[in-house]
Amino acid sequence: MARKLSRSLLLLLPFLLGVPLAQGFSPLPLVLNTWPFKNATDAAWRTLVSGGTAVDAVENGCAVCETERCEGTVGFGGSPDEVGETTLDAMIMDGATMNVGAVGDLRRIKNAIGVARRVLDHTTHTLLVGDSATNFAESMGFTVEDLSTTTSKSLHSEWASKNCQPNFWRRVTPDPSKYCGPYKPSGSLEWAISAHKQVDIHNHDTIGMVVIHKTGHVAAGTSTNGLKFKIPGRVGDSPIPGAGAYAEDMIGAAAATGDGDILMRFLPSYQAVEYMRRGDHPTTACQKVIAKIQKYFPKFFGAIICANVMGSYGAACNKHPTFTQFSFMVYNSLRIQPTEEKVDCI
Ligand SMILES: *[C@@H]1O[C@H](CO)[C@@H](O)[C@H](O)[C@H]1NC(C)=O
Repeated sequence: MARKLSRSLLLLLPFLLGVPLAQGFSPLPLVLNTWPFKNATDAAWRTLVSGGTAVDAVENGCAVCETERCEGTVGFGGSPDEVGETTLDAMIMDGATMNVGAVGDLRRIKNAIGVARRVLDHTTHTLLVGDSATNFAESMGFTVEDLSTTTSKSLHSEWASKNCQPNFWRRVTPDPSKYCGPYKPSGSLEWAISAHKQVDIHNHDTIGMVVIHKTGHVAAGTSTNGLKFKIPGRVGDSPIPGAGAYAEDMIGAAAATGDGDILMRFLPSYQAVEYMRRGDHPTTACQKVIAKIQKYFPKFFGAIICANVMGSYGAACNKHPTFTQFSFMVYNSLRIQPTEEKVDCI
């Protein structure tokens, strides 16, 4: 009897303490994004505060990085490919409907996440690529313009003057570790050195963002200009649902960053959401995903952020010679501003 009474008292406690205080315990809404891209976090938060949806917040947050060209690895004027062109990948996923809009190898359009949003809202497709994605964007009212800048042009000419080093070819002739292309298959394993060792924090960051709305709706998204000196046509993990990002209402969301050529083979964001579905804390879910990839690629460059619908969150990264700690941004109702947090890589 006494036990029953105390339990009902406990249940009543939030009401006795007053609703405002009880609400104060809820960390929602939550904005989480890869790297210390604070202005992106802030833009997503302001979108939520002014009545926007989780999808709106992801779009506006990532768009800030496209305008500011966060670290030169998001948006125009960064990561020229082998012919000197900057191309963009972006995705947005609505966890309430499981709809996705994405673009890969998008050319001559600056606002890639905006185009991804149009794919989400105005088509029943998931992913549009290349010049056709540009045509789609133009029909949706986006400006077609050159994405090159003085910086991207000089990055490219410096690369060309250094015999096109580094590049991402193997088993071709002439020897890609010494010469520029055009290349032909060599049929020999002589130059089978993995190009992946060249992918690190200096040439690949992506903004990946996860938003949990105060109503519990979940969204996630990404935007990047991909890998510096990539082979034209290369699309990374960012616009691939389940790889670059994934979101599902009632569970949570995740987003990844790093060497997309490796990451996309493991569907890390999907896998993290599955771990959370089985009850893992977001930190554990993130760590398990990194540990899985580590088994096959011990030196891969990559990190992942995870959040559940309760507002718990976490992150994990793979330890790499140039990458031992991963920074990400957090903004929730328990904070008064976007806060940078760090995890040690495992
Ligand atoms: C963030 O926004 C502030 C205010 O608009 C601006 O001064 C600052 O340069 C921005 N940060 C970056 C990294 O662009």
